[in-house]
Amino acid sequence: MITSAKFSPDEICTDAAATRAHAARHLSLLSPGTILRLHGPLGAGKSEWVRGLAQALGVPGDIPSPTFTLCQPLLGGQLPLEHWDLYRLENARDWDSLGWPDCLITSGLVAVEWPERYPGEWPKNTLDLTLTPQPDGSRILSWR
Ligand SMILES: Nc1ncnc2c1ncn2[C@@H]1O[C@H](COP(=O)(O)OP(=O)(O)OP(=O)(O)O)[C@@H](O)[C@H]1O
Ligand SMILES: [Mg+2]
Repeated sequence: MITSAKFSPDEICTDAAATRAHAARHLSLLSPGTILRLHGPLGAGKSEWVRGLAQALGVPGDIPSPTFTLCQPLLGGQLPLEHWDLYRLENARDWDSLGWPDCLITSGLVAVEWPERYPGEWPKNTLDLTLTPQPDGSRILSWR
């Protein structure tokens, strides 16, 4: 794994705009080919974070989420971005037919929600971001 020690310490994001801004602030630290595993419970703000990343990349128009599509390509920005949501995958799903893990090899960025669903190996250039909802409704974002 790439060490993420160069990234900022835990940050408190008090609303969705702050979550998007966190993504935008870290874009310049993400080299092309980076895989981002996004951890956190339902509703933690993972998709919101990817939306912020897409906006910072300059992806034009609406930024749809991959909830029913597994993978949402977000193109037209300075780097191609793919947004995966593995939540609905069954254990028995044939990962080969989805093109995993080869589809994680990218010239752009790949963001994956519910990465725990994938039982296989991840590329070396994988980073982990965890979003933890707090009792007051804010989220703590940590690079681990
Ligand atoms: N820092 C924050 N503080 C408060 N609300 C937030 C914050 N970040 C995101 N939200 C809001 O939380 C809600 C859920 O966000 P989002 O859909 O991104 O969660 P998710 O982690 O992708 O969930 P799922 O696992 O269901 O896909 C949205 O209404 C979003 O705007
Ligand atoms: Mg989501």
